[in-house]
Amino acid sequence: MSDMRERIQSAADTIRAKLGEAELAIVLGSGLGDHVQAMTDAACLPYAEIPGMPVSTAPGHAGKWWRGTIGGKRVFMLQGRFHLYEGISQEELVIPVRVMKLLGVRTLILTNAAGCANPEWKAGTLMMLTDYINFSGRNPLIGPNMDEFGPRFPDMSEAYSQRLRGIARETADRLGIGLREGVYMLFNGPTYESPAEVRMARLLGADAVGMSTVPETIAAHHCGIEVLGISCLTNMAAGLQKQPLSHEEVQETAARVSGSFRRLLNGIVEAV
Ligand code: HPA
Repeated sequence: MSDMRERIQSAADTIRAKLGEAELAIVLGSGLGDHVQAMTDAACLPYAEIPGMPVSTAPGHAGKWWRGTIGGKRVFMLQGRFHLYEGISQEELVIPVRVMKLLGVRTLILTNAAGCANPEWKAGTLMMLTDYINFSGRNPLIGPNMDEFGPRFPDMSEAYSQRLRGIARETADRLGIGLREGVYMLFNGPTYESPAEVRMARLLGADAVGMSTVPETIAAHHCGIEVLGISCLTNMAAGLQKQPLSHEEVQETAARVSGSFRRLLNGIVEAV
């Protein structure tokens, strides 16, 4: 067994022994970590106590693997994810996704905070991902293929599941929550984008710019987990708003829309 495969296995064994398995998992993005309160019967394990897991250093990311119940469904929630700007490889960054696969996860909801590159929208918009642009210059599947997880050359025509997108759209309509749809473009960070980069992103067809989610999407789709992505567009991207961008603004906006975000997520989990 490769070192990486052993890390994935030991993390999965530890989580299974302490928290059990789940069919659905949610990764909570910047400023969205409070959503763990939506679960009843919750228990958690700090990443630091899970052998094989990378350790999260980003502010606003607590680094805990939760298990609990929403609407009668057993779920995992990951409070704190890993980012390229922390200096870890994309292969390491997607360890949690492969651990989920070993723990029975079939549906993954990836959430994030992102900048809004679509000038027609405004800060505070919720956007469901229809597709992504991987502008990191890397890919989490680079290296020997782990055949037991998926094929060497995976198809990405439908990285974000049409079925789950339909459920999310219906749920948003039913709850009266506005939900846009668009393309998310990954930048490495940790700098926010320059205005010229945002103009480029827009020209290439992006509606949102951010520093996460794409590697996890790729690894999950590779191993047959159905993926839904939802961004909270916390600010207009650089060049589209007058004031400078800041992590405080990101967290403030995420907190402001957290009520509707939570209702939407709960509704989707119940409907899946
Ligand atoms: N750019 C990249 N990542 C982000 C942004 C942004 O404008 N806002 C929140 N996360």
